[in-house]
Amino acid sequence: MRRLDGKRALITGAARGIGLEFARAYLAEGARVAICDINIDAARKAADGLGEGAIAVRLDVTDQASIDTCVAEVEGAFGGIDILVNNAALFTAAPIVEITRADYDRIFAVNVSGPLFMMQAVARGMIERGKGGKIINMASQAGRRGEPLVAVYCASKAAVISLTQSAGLNLIEHGINVNAIAPGVVDGEHWDGVDAFFAKYENKAPGQKKREVGAAVPFGRMGTAADLTGMAIFLASSDADYIVAQTYNVDGGNWMS
Ligand SMILES: NC(=O)c1ccc[n+]([C@@H]2O[C@H](COP(=O)([O-])OP(=O)(O)OC[C@H]3O[C@@H](n4cnc5c(N)ncnc54)[C@H](O)[C@@H]3O)[C@@H](O)[C@H]2O)c1
Repeated sequence: MRRLDGKRALITGAARGIGLEFARAYLAEGARVAICDINIDAARKAADGLGEGAIAVRLDVTDQASIDTCVAEVEGAFGGIDILVNNAALFTAAPIVEITRADYDRIFAVNVSGPLFMMQAVARGMIERGKGGKIINMASQAGRRGEPLVAVYCASKAAVISLTQSAGLNLIEHGINVNAIAPGVVDGEHWDGVDAFFAKYENKAPGQKKREVGAAVPFGRMGTAADLTGMAIFLASSDADYIVAQTYNVDGGNWMS
């Protein structure tokens, strides 16, 4: 018996990176998985690569009509959704005096409104079906404390931790567990983008910031998406039934709280 046998998962932003690794891990544990991403070509390629049990659905988490259509499509294809992973997010960096309202709005639309209204849309179906469910939000160590150049992203991830607490407390009466994972620094295309911001603002050579943050992790290196799958499977499984509204650091020891 695999840990997610018969479960149906929707993962946002799963066309690449951490979301794609979670999809692979959930499939290996017996779940069917919807790869939902704004980049539908990459999502289709990812689903094709994963094989049977994976489908690709276009989703823009900033657009309510897209959320409603995507959730209905996944519910139609799978007959319901047992697991939602709110993984899609964008990163940005700038000194306080250079932050633009447009960039703030763009980041909060994806990183904060996105998970909130995805939780709402998926939880409605879970409540209707009456069998509970699991919701996992991707927070970050950035949500645990501010950083001089990362105000907007840090605030968005702090909001994810807060939303996880409120939604967790509200939805547990329906047997829906809402929890979050706070990764540290995870190598991949996302961090290539982060590295480019620091190259610009801290005048570093490309790749330098990555080496620095990796060396600073108590474990001794940056994380990989595969380092996070154990927690993602656990929180999606019945082993986590008694866990409510928590955020777990999976960061090689970067943060303690
Ligand atoms: N990589 C890290 O170091 C790290 C650290 C802490 C937290 N996280 C969090 O983990 C999650 C995954 O990170 P990642 O490194 O895999 O990121 P990534 O940038 O590699 O992947 C993000 C995915 O989200 C999709 N996406 C973007 N906007 C979207 C939208 N409006 N609607 C739907 N999909 C959209 C992208 O197309 C992409 O496939 C994010 O929430 C991120 O904030 C990452």
